[in-house]
Amino acid sequence: MVRQPVIGGSAGEPPEPPQKPVFSLGGEGEQERLDEELRPQRLDDVVGQRAVVERLKIMLNAARKRKEPLGHLLLDGPPGLGKTTFATVLPREMGTECQITSGPVLSAPKDLLPYLTNASYGSILFIDEIHRLPHTVEEFIYPVMEDFRVDISLGEGLNARTINMRLKQFTVIGATTRSGMLTAPLRDRFVNREHLDFYTIEELADIVRRNARKLHTKISDEASFEISRRSRGTPRIANNLLRWTRDFADSEAEGEITTLLARDALARREVDDLGLDRQDRRYLETLIRVFGGGPAGVQAIAHSMNLSADTLEDEVEPFLLRCGLLQRSPRGRVATENAFLHLKLQPPEPGSEERQRRLF
Ligand SMILES: Nc1ncnc2c1ncn2[C@@H]1O[C@H](COP(=O)(O)OP(=O)(O)O)[C@@H](O)[C@H]1O
Ligand SMILES: [Mg+2]
Repeated sequence: MVRQPVIGGSAGEPPEPPQKPVFSLGGEGEQERLDEELRPQRLDDVVGQRAVVERLKIMLNAARKRKEPLGHLLLDGPPGLGKTTFATVLPREMGTECQITSGPVLSAPKDLLPYLTNASYGSILFIDEIHRLPHTVEEFIYPVMEDFRVDISLGEGLNARTINMRLKQFTVIGATTRSGMLTAPLRDRFVNREHLDFYTIEELADIVRRNARKLHTKISDEASFEISRRSRGTPRIANNLLRWTRDFADSEAEGEITTLLARDALARREVDDLGLDRQDRRYLETLIRVFGGGPAGVQAIAHSMNLSADTLEDEVEPFLLRCGLLQRSPRGRVATENAFLHLKLQPPEPGSEERQRRLF
């Protein structure tokens, strides 16, 4: 289904391969390969996100009945919640081709061109991390998404001219962890926008049970809840913890995942009761010990932890915010009283100046 785009080069010239495109979802790292192994293949296999699934089904039905391409779709939400899953399930449901690329590998308009000329009527072009598209590529894509037209400038000075090329009508699916970083014109070109939110423990337990079956591992219901409770609302983390627990069961026991064994395995992985891992706790510890609990800027925290601010904003902060361990204030990040308690640290005294400064 995923196919390699080719440029129709001029006679005699071999087609030029696009710059480092991502053709296969299994392609890059180990995590992608693991994601791929457990990825739902059809919309009906997708767990949770009911409202999103219902709306997508309506879009699909309408497009199929009218025999028209889907409208452009933007998926946003923290990592591991199913953006790539939805983006790859939709072409399968439509029975169309899908090409895959991502913002950072499209460094100039010419990198996008092969995908555009290759797009057949009704096919899907999935652009992952679309907030990282360079500005020049973003401007180039506006007329593409609006009128299925590219404007190519040829020559310079007096000889300069612009060629308009018509494209087949196709669908862009964009995925982003930062919809706030998209420019308004780009966001406006997506008629459909869906936000993916964290999953409930029941939904994650359902995913864990299904995937244990796929991995031919026996797991008790209670153990699947034990894993889900500590998965930070995120299917990718649930899958990773399931894999770890399965390894633990095979290595240290007879292979079956019981509740006790799951607890043991998760403790060994240093995942705590709330699902915080070492990196999450290090974030809170840095905020409390180095910055007195805040307010502190994310750049400063990132610097102290020797990590990028992007990693913190994408992977660490959303869950800490959601479970009330962190607050964002105009002056920066603030650790809440619950964060102190969770780390077994003494929160500032009620009425103290420190407490006032921290807004709680
Ligand atoms: N709704 C879902 N139902 C079942 N599994 C899911 C769901 N969403 C995500 N997953 C699983 O989590 C993994 C990560 O999902 P993915 O779509 O790659 O996340 P994202 O692209 O948002 O980072 C996938 O391997 C998939 O198996
Ligand atoms: Mg993805």
